[in-house]
Amino acid sequence: MAMTMQELREQFYEKLQQANAAEAFEELRVRYLGKKGEITGLLKNMGAIAPEMRKEYGAKVNALKDEVEASIKRRIEEAHARELEMRIAATERYDLSLPSTLSEGSYHPITLVQREVEQIFASMGFTIEDYDEIVDDYHCFEALNIPKHHPARDMQDTYYLSNGQLLKTHTSAAQNAIMRKYGAPLRAIFPGRCFRNESTDACHENTFFQMEGIMIDENISISNLIYFMKTMLSEVFRRDVKVRLRPGFFPFVEPGFELDISCAICGGKGCPSCKNSGWLELCPCGMIHPNVLKAGGIDTEKYTGFAFGLGLTRLAMMKYGIKDIRDLNSGNLKSLDQFVK
Ligand code: DAH
Repeated sequence: MAMTMQELREQFYEKLQQANAAEAFEELRVRYLGKKGEITGLLKNMGAIAPEMRKEYGAKVNALKDEVEASIKRRIEEAHARELEMRIAATERYDLSLPSTLSEGSYHPITLVQREVEQIFASMGFTIEDYDEIVDDYHCFEALNIPKHHPARDMQDTYYLSNGQLLKTHTSAAQNAIMRKYGAPLRAIFPGRCFRNESTDACHENTFFQMEGIMIDENISISNLIYFMKTMLSEVFRRDVKVRLRPGFFPFVEPGFELDISCAICGGKGCPSCKNSGWLELCPCGMIHPNVLKAGGIDTEKYTGFAFGLGLTRLAMMKYGIKDIRDLNSGNLKSLDQFVK
């Protein structure tokens, strides 16, 4: 004799009680709710029911169907929660005598180089300044003798923000504020993250680190500039580094130079990192343009100064022999944490 609805419900709960794995729940679902399932079968039975009872009967079967479906779902969720609890409990059990497999954290190579350069300049009387990453057109360009529509703006593909401000394209953007803050005489360095809308390759990234430095005093000349740069680089590389000065154009310095150092990766023979030239452009620099000093409120009759924009990212690559700039932003701890050892 066919089972009544009540008997079917009781039987289902009995079986649900015994089920405890995903397959068992699925089996129950098929057995009761599947195409040929027992509850589905009750609906097929409709013909045997007196016509005036059919509506009520149909509703009851559907209610049972929903109830069974919800019960199975609840049990599956409970099983998941239990499994999760068990897994958490298992990881919380620990054995203090086991050898540690955790590796030590480390500083990023750029941080290491930055700190080293900071220390060297601090020992030569420079203060270390912090500056914003979001700046305005005046500080990034105008105050640096780069008026609107000046072709030099094309050298730096700028990320503009919708409010008219921009992501600083170079640490020079802080020069004006620092001159205004301290006046002359002044020795300051200001490291920072810079942004340019450039396509990336082994030597370019759209985000990179520079360290700007300015020294303003009476009688500052190119020989002071060369002395400070050579001293700093020889300390960083712990050897007498080979440098060369080439004339370079930057609106905020006059005269301007490109300071190159011989590529430490290939030893000067030529490799992709130095575009096969054997030299790496490391540090553009020059004597601060009088217009820039004036914008910074410095008396140009009395004071002169030099400025440099050291590529910290490049310096880190050379110091640690990192061939591809993209490795520095990769977050790959295996390659990054070797520098502290
Ligand atoms: N701000 C320049 C750049 O990022 C680099 C630079 C050149 C900085 C000459 C200087 C300088 O201080 O004197 O392209």
